[in-house]
Amino acid sequence: MKNKGHLLKTFSLLLTIFALVLGTVAVTNSLNSNTSPVTAKSKTKAKCKTKAKAGIKKQFVNPRHTSQSAKRVFLNASENKNGNTSNLAKKIFGNRSYQQINLTDYNIPQIGQGDGDFNKVWNQLKNADVLVIGTPVYWSNMSGYLKTFIDHLKINDDLKGDDLYVIVQGSDANQTLAINSTYGTLKRVSVRFGLNFVGIAQTDRQATQLHNKMIGQK
Ligand SMILES: Cc1cc2nc3c(=O)[nH]c(=O)nc-3n(C[C@H](O)[C@H](O)[C@H](O)COP(=O)(O)O)c2cc1C
Repeated sequence: MKNKGHLLKTFSLLLTIFALVLGTVAVTNSLNSNTSPVTAKSKTKAKCKTKAKAGIKKQFVNPRHTSQSAKRVFLNASENKNGNTSNLAKKIFGNRSYQQINLTDYNIPQIGQGDGDFNKVWNQLKNADVLVIGTPVYWSNMSGYLKTFIDHLKINDDLKGDDLYVIVQGSDANQTLAINSTYGTLKRVSVRFGLNFVGIAQTDRQATQLHNKMIGQK
């Protein structure tokens, strides 16, 4: 009888420990899990958004300035003056002359920390007819050099009617994220400044296509 009572006690103690362990595992799983109904729903939403963004229609126009005498400026937003970004620019310009401005030669602080050399760069850009902006891909986006420069822009008519070509140069084969974000920002800039957005190149083939546009070929 005494033994039976002892056995019962041990059994119920084991049952309690088992229940506690089960409860702990369940709580841990629910904390680590990404599949709560809310998270799963927002994940599906995010997926749809990405799909929609990837489908942005980029309709470009023909350039306005195709003559030899047009003033062409290349704004290089790479840390490298002679890197992949500027190599792609060389392809777009071909044998047409151009001035290269390397943002790495200038000190442009974050917005709110003064203008630094911003006006020195702007004064060289504002007389251009053809503007090529080149950025390497940093973390699936344009470089900080370019974004900081853009943050300093003050809307005016200095660039009205100029042709804008854009280079987005990354090492991955798929640059959908970087292209879409850079396109979105520079599309807004071109609308606000009255620029004629001709196209974006991320490959040699696209650079050759843009070169042909620049020299007035179809
Ligand atoms: C800080 C940093 C972040 C980068 N992030 C990416 C990236 O997200 N995707 C990508 O394809 N390449 C990335 N890269 C690689 C550069 O985009 C690539 O090497 C580019 O061609 C460099 O151009 P450059 O020679 O003009 O500097 C990154 C490079 C650096 C330095």
